Amino acid sequence: MCGIVGYIGEKECTGILLDSLSKLEYRGYDSAGIAVFDKHDKTIKTIKAKGRLKDLEKKMKGEDRLYGCCGIGHTRWATHGEPSDINSHPHGNARVTIVHNGIIENYKKLKEFLESKGYVFESQTDTETVAKLLDYYYDGENPIECIKNVINEIEGSYALGILFKDYPDTIYAIRKDSPLIVGKGKGEAFIASDVPAILKFTKNYYLLDEDEIAVLDRSGAKFYTKFGELITKELITADFDEESAAKGGYEHFMLKEIHEQPNAIKMTVTPRVTNGMPDFSECGLTEKMLSGYKRIFVIACGTAMHAGTVGKYVIERLARVPVTVDLASEFRYRNPILNKEDLVILVSQSGETADTLAALRLAKNVGAATMSIVNVKGSSIARESDIVVYTHAGPEISVASTKAYMVQIAVFYLLAFQLAYIKKTISKDECKRLVSVMLKVPDIIENVLELSDTCSYVASKLVNSENLLYIGRGLDYALSMEGSLKLKEISYIHSEAYAAGELKHGTISLVTDQMPVIAVATQRELFDKTVSNVKEVKARGAKVILITHKCMSVDEEAADYVIKLPTIDDMLMPMIGVVPLQLIAYYASVLRGNDVDKPRNLAKSVTVE
Ligand code: AGP
Ligand code: GLU
Repeated sequence: MCGIVGYIGEKECTGILLDSLSKLEYRGYDSAGIAVFDKHDKTIKTIKAKGRLKDLEKKMKGEDRLYGCCGIGHTRWATHGEPSDINSHPHGNARVTIVHNGIIENYKKLKEFLESKGYVFESQTDTETVAKLLDYYYDGENPIECIKNVINEIEGSYALGILFKDYPDTIYAIRKDSPLIVGKGKGEAFIASDVPAILKFTKNYYLLDEDEIAVLDRSGAKFYTKFGELITKELITADFDEESAAKGGYEHFMLKEIHEQPNAIKMTVTPRVTNGMPDFSECGLTEKMLSGYKRIFVIACGTAMHAGTVGKYVIERLARVPVTVDLASEFRYRNPILNKEDLVILVSQSGETADTLAALRLAKNVGAATMSIVNVKGSSIARESDIVVYTHAGPEISVASTKAYMVQIAVFYLLAFQLAYIKKTISKDECKRLVSVMLKVPDIIENVLELSDTCSYVASKLVNSENLLYIGRGLDYALSMEGSLKLKEISYIHSEAYAAGELKHGTISLVTDQMPVIAVATQRELFDKTVSNVKEVKARGAKVILITHKCMSVDEEAADYVIKLPTIDDMLMPMIGVVPLQLIAYYASVLRGNDVDKPRNLAKSVTVE
């Protein structure tokens, strides 16, 4: 899930490439590199370094300066071969040089073939086989023919930026199962894995489709099918700017994104409410369609899967339609029983997660109706699903997902309200009431954000622990799963989320005074039961942080610290309750001195299996 960029224009390109790459570091930061056509001797020159972009920049300030107006760049999340200088991209030689995002699945076979032709490999990457295969087919005259041959032979996923020695003012690009956009400015053109990378320079771009070939020069871009036929494509204008993709005064993107949640909800919910009722007709989802589905499957990964789990509780409770939630990586290989009357909902912030995309394709193959809840416009999952409900959270840069989760659950609530109304399990008045409560959530979250200091204090009490438990029942269990993932991914404190009633079936043996417990108890009908479980862990020495409604009276002995939240309908409490969980994780990461927005070993967009 690396990030790739490219620039051809009148300006010196190294600064532009580095700037664009800095917007894509969320996709991986094991190493970085760029290749530029040297403007004096028209040769391709490459410079790359293990580590962050700043390590590359440092290297470039030395003697390794590059000068030219056409180049490609890469920021890596290693899949094949350790992070190292030699495995860093660009790969290639003086004739053909490439940057790659994706995985070449048949690279071993190709490597053997190329070795039999005398090629010697330097790196352990799958990417190097593509670079060498391009070199093998390149006759010095016809890059498109060469690319067509290579497309026929490589299997797997790829977005590639390619430079050919004899075409010094041209960038070639192709993609399959990895995202790529082509930007168009005045007298200049760009490639990038994601729109924020080019926003400083242009808001206009094309979405490259599967197996299309793009040829960029100063006049813009031409597009071809994989058979070499010229095609025309629609130019799109981004609906957000560089400013909204930048930190805006916050210390970290994550904190900014946590604070953007009220607005993200408004942007996502308002267009889906007509006369006080949920209405997804702008997405092509009609009441008739909704009334026909017998079962719902929600498929996603990580945080998006946790949003789906909230969706399950709410849809089943309100609409009485059975919902199965699956991790995409499991679903795709478990031969699921699906049919044409099922609705499969794919949830993804990026819209590019490889497992979720594969699950979507599997569902389409069996003829199930597919709907995606996606944040990134024009992403693969959005484009390939029958119906797409876009969440309007704006760009989410921090690897830890916050505002995307919030708007994903907002969409699930609206869907549950509408489905319940259609299935006649709630009245129109009740449906309207629930929608009106939801419309108040953004303001309530503004108040919850004022609990930042409290959350920072709680984080300071946990920060030296190595292990932690989150417990809750029902929706609070779903919420605990998200709280736990957030904490572990950015603070590196090991934590588990447990259904509070399940603890006594094994896990409670782990509880000591070294194992703090965060108990989430926002579901009032389950409050007493959760508090009993809290007492059980307290009796075994655990320090307890209890998160509950302001209106609940909590026995002083029950918890060491209580975070009290504004009260709304219990069913909607996950939208409120997730905020302190996000803030606790955030402050724990800050206090541990971690790189909050770019936690180790992770990447924002997981376009590999
Ligand atoms: C969330 O904090 C994680 N970084 C991760 O679990 C993420 O939600 C998951 O990879 C799914 O990504 P997607 O929403 O872009 O499909
Ligand atoms: N497979 C390539 C590598 O390991 C690209 C990785 C990716 O896109 O995640 O370098």
